[in-house]
Amino acid sequence: MYKDNPLLKISWHDFKQLELWEKGPYFQNQGRPYHVLTAQQFDRPMLERICNLTTEIRTIGKTKGGINFLQGLLSEKRAMLYFVQPSTRTFLSFFAACQIVGINAAEVRDTNTSSEVKGESPEDTVRTFSSYFDLIIMRHPIGGFAERIAWLLSNSNRPVPVLNAGSGKDQHPTQALLDIYTLKRSFENRGGIEEKKIAFVGDLARGRTVRSLATLLVLYPGVKLYFVAPEALQIEKDIINMLEKDGTQFEISDDFEKIIPEMDAIYMTRIQDEWDKANESSLIDTSKFHFTERHLKILKPDAVLLHPLPRRKEIAIEVDSDPRAIYWRQVRNGMWVRAALLLTIFDRDGEIDRYYEDLVGE
Ligand code: NCD
Repeated sequence: MYKDNPLLKISWHDFKQLELWEKGPYFQNQGRPYHVLTAQQFDRPMLERICNLTTEIRTIGKTKGGINFLQGLLSEKRAMLYFVQPSTRTFLSFFAACQIVGINAAEVRDTNTSSEVKGESPEDTVRTFSSYFDLIIMRHPIGGFAERIAWLLSNSNRPVPVLNAGSGKDQHPTQALLDIYTLKRSFENRGGIEEKKIAFVGDLARGRTVRSLATLLVLYPGVKLYFVAPEALQIEKDIINMLEKDGTQFEISDDFEKIIPEMDAIYMTRIQDEWDKANESSLIDTSKFHFTERHLKILKPDAVLLHPLPRRKEIAIEVDSDPRAIYWRQVRNGMWVRAALLLTIFDRDGEIDRYYEDLVGE
């Protein structure tokens, strides 16, 4: 099924030098995602396809017959969840997504329990996984590591798909897909994501969810992005360059209260202090970038508040019961989006369309 493996045709040396958007075609299999490694590999038709498929799967998953049907789709596959950075949501979301489509999943969550402790390279460890499993879903602290593994496996006799479930400070493509799905549903009756004003708030310098989602939002004409953070945590130059190159409108701000009433969506993030070298972010006053109950009064009545979670103090608990706070819905959406992605990778999505058409046609 993995025909014309494009990563076979390029040396690691040449591949490494490519710009992120130039790498995309190397991760596809005949127009569909095979490896899922970067936000840049997705175009609008792919996003539309994954979102539509997700909605179909959710509908099918409402009945026992539908659940049984979904579970039969990939029951011959096994997945390895290699998560060597802390994770609750993404790990369980992928685990549950595997269960939905019938994939059996195994896990390694700590390099201290793998042969890496014996001095094995992470590359050899992952190559071992590919001998037993049909898919590798990985979260790793090293940026670009998942790409390296995808190249390596593509050049082995077991070129299994690699899914990046968060790498370094750089990429979190599947979080961006679920964020897009959540935004798309929120704006369903308001002309879609196009033309919306969307603010990113918090640690934008080190938040991979922000980088990946900003990359996908560029695909929606008329969107205006606001980056709201203390100067030391502002969005980095590569994202700014991308927006400028694309002609996407954006603003940099440190005045959260001024921005709130103008926004259609606000994407909050926590301080990513695991990347601190010497506790430096504890010296930054981030309290001005917290969304409190008081802010609900100035938030537009039809705006939405998102967060990839986990949260600390950046959104007050009292905000949770407001219908505009949609971060828990976002979590649930992630499971369905990931199930859609797994079916797409293994080319079983057509069966979803057929089942869904029968179901709604009845
Ligand atoms: C994010 C991550 O791991 O990058 N969490 C997630 O996957 N939902 C955000 C974070 O840890 O702050």
